[in-house]
Amino acid sequence: MILLNGKKTAADIKEEITLEVRELKDNGHKTPHLAAIIVGNNGASITYVNAKVKACERVGFESTLIRLTEKVTEDDLLNEIAILNIDNDIDGFIVQLPLPKHIDEQKVLMAVNPDKDVDGFHPTNVGKMALNLPTFISATPFGILELLDRYNVETSGKHVVVLGRSHIVGSPISILLSQKRKVGNATVTMCHSRTKNLKELTLQADIIIAAIGIPEFLKADMVKKNVTVIDVGITRLADSSKKSGFRLVGDVAFEEVSKKAEFITPVPGGVGPMTIAMLLKNTLLACKRNS
Ligand code: GUN
Repeated sequence: MILLNGKKTAADIKEEITLEVRELKDNGHKTPHLAAIIVGNNGASITYVNAKVKACERVGFESTLIRLTEKVTEDDLLNEIAILNIDNDIDGFIVQLPLPKHIDEQKVLMAVNPDKDVDGFHPTNVGKMALNLPTFISATPFGILELLDRYNVETSGKHVVVLGRSHIVGSPISILLSQKRKVGNATVTMCHSRTKNLKELTLQADIIIAAIGIPEFLKADMVKKNVTVIDVGITRLADSSKKSGFRLVGDVAFEEVSKKAEFITPVPGGVGPMTIAMLLKNTLLACKRNS
């Protein structure tokens, strides 16, 4: 079994970005600048956004964090977005999800200038991704592609079973892996809550991408020997033995599934760290496009 080490791979990517940023600056180019808007006090969201800001500092980017209260109106949020859209120093920005219920998420994502949409969530960028045109690929699917690439996991002609059809992971990774691209050319089956005979499908899979948010859903008896498993799930389970009061659990029963797998991502330390590295990569791309 080979561990797909997202923590190490993300560190390698950040190192590559650091060198590229140094070179840009040495050549008189502006410093890449990422902004993030966060609404409310969701603990996990704050942790993620802080990690994104910290990662910017590490690679030599500038960053701006805009914190808005849970009660902010949709109009005020749209106004903040409008300001970032026309600020020439900001190369890219994100609005951390989820948003409070009184705010229309779709409306917010559509307000972001597609050229600054380093999350790749704007319909224009989703459309370009679906057509295999150059664009910002969103961080989680982009991170999965990069991890498979750097560990030379063969995808061409393989049967990939994706668990989950979310706009952030399941849907885009299904599209990307079926496309004619370096990490792609796979036969993809996308499964969801209405899928019948799920186990029959997962048992046929060469590669399984689990992104449903149900802790330890994928068990050893659901996979064939030498499968590759990418675990996107990350659920906080209460655990009084931990200082934080919780432990992180993926969608895969790692202990038992890893015994049958050829390649597998751990949780934490798999896909999670890759998403931040890919967000930085998209921001660097946005900055270079701006020159
Ligand atoms: N919430 C969970 N994942 C993401 C992400 O990739 N981007 C944003 N903006 N919010 C998220």
